[in-house]
Amino acid sequence: MDERAADRPLRWGIAGPGRMAQAFVKDFAHVDGAVPYAVGSRDVARAQAFADEFGLERAFGSYAELCACPEIDVVYIATPHPQHKAIALEAIGNGKAVLVEKAFATTLAGAQEIVDAARAQQVFAMEAMWTRFQPVVRALHDVVDAGQLGTILGVQGDLYAQRDFNPDDRLFAKDLGGGALLDLGVYVLQFAQDFLGSPSEMTVRGTLYPNGVDAQAGMVLSYDSGALATLAVSLQSMGPGRMVVMGDQGWAEVKPRFHHPDRVVVHRKGVTPRTLALHPDGTGYSHEIVEVNRALREGRLESDIMPLSDTLAVMDQLEQALHAVGVKHPDQPL
Ligand SMILES: NC(=O)c1ccc[n+]([C@@H]2O[C@H](COP(=O)([O-])OP(=O)(O)OC[C@H]3O[C@@H](n4cnc5c(N)ncnc54)[C@H](OP(=O)(O)O)[C@@H]3O)[C@@H](O)[C@H]2O)c1
Repeated sequence: MDERAADRPLRWGIAGPGRMAQAFVKDFAHVDGAVPYAVGSRDVARAQAFADEFGLERAFGSYAELCACPEIDVVYIATPHPQHKAIALEAIGNGKAVLVEKAFATTLAGAQEIVDAARAQQVFAMEAMWTRFQPVVRALHDVVDAGQLGTILGVQGDLYAQRDFNPDDRLFAKDLGGGALLDLGVYVLQFAQDFLGSPSEMTVRGTLYPNGVDAQAGMVLSYDSGALATLAVSLQSMGPGRMVVMGDQGWAEVKPRFHHPDRVVVHRKGVTPRTLALHPDGTGYSHEIVEVNRALREGRLESDIMPLSDTLAVMDQLEQALHAVGVKHPDQPL
C-alpha cells in the first residue's frame, strides 16, 4: 500500500460489475476509511453504468486498465470463478492488494499461483469468504474456544439453494465454472475447515445436470481428531441451509441460513438453550471490507480469520470433490 494512503480512505477497484458487485458496493456505506473508487468491465458502457449508479469516480473498459490504475489500493474480483486467477495475477503484478470472490480459483494449482504471486510481490490477498466475518460466526468461535461445547467432534450442514437451470447463467454454464460445488460447496467446506481444520479423508457423491456440471453433492470428511463432517450442497433442491457444530458437551446451530446468519443457538447438557443474536452491518459484506482495510493499514499480507492456507486447503477439497463427481473446470485467461 502506498505510504501516502495513511491519510486518506483506501481506494477500491471493482472487477466485474455483475450481481455480486452490485450487492457488495452498497456495503461501503457501513465502512469507514474505504471508498469504491473505480470499476472495470469488458465493456466500458457497462462499467460506466455501474459507476454512475453507485457514484464511483472511474470506469474502465478492460480489467487490465483497472488493475494498472495507480490510484487504486485494492482490487475486488467479482467475475465468474475461471477468470479470478487471471485478474488477480494482473492486479498483484501491479502491486495491488486483492480480495478474490469465492471460489478463489477453479483449480488448486490456480489458487496456489495467486498465493505465490501475492507472496512474491509482498501484497495482501484474501478470499472473499464473508461468512467467516459474520458477528455470529465470531461469537460461535468464542463459545467453542471457551469449551462450552466440550470436545468438538462434528460439523453437519447443508447449503441447498434452488435455482432454475439456465445453461447460459454463470451458475450453470460449464465454461463459466458453473455447478453446486464451486458456488456452494466452498461455503460448507470452509465452515468445516474453520472449526475442524484439514481432513485426513473425504468421500463424495454427486449428481450432474445434462450439460455435465454438478447439481448436487454429498460429502463426508474424517479428521485425525476423530471428528466427522457431513456436508451437502444443491442448486436443484430447496433446503434449510443449516449448520451445526457438535461437541461432547453440547451443540450450536447457526441460523437462519448459516452463510447469512443473525443468531446462533447454543445447546448445552443440562442447560436451557441460549440464543446469541448478532446482526451484520449492511448486507454483511462490510465485515470483510473492514478486515481488508485493517490488514492493509497494519501492513499485514493476509487475514488471520481467512488465511490463505485455509483457502488452499478448501480448494484442494473442492478439486477432489469435483474429480469425484466427474467435473473439471480449468482456470481461464481473460
Ligand atoms: N459472497 C457472496 O455472497 C456471493 C454471491 C454471489 C456471487 N458471488 C461470487 O461473485 C462472483 C461473480 O458472481 P455473480 O453472480 O456476480 O456473476 P454475474 O452476475 O454473472 O457477473 C459476473 C461479472 O463478471 C464479468 N466477467 C468477466 N469475464 C467474464 C466472462 N468471461 N464471462 C462472463 N462474465 C465475465 C462480467 O462483467 P463484464 O461482462 O461487464 O466484463 C459480469 O458482470 C463469483 O465468483 C461468485 O461465486 C459471491
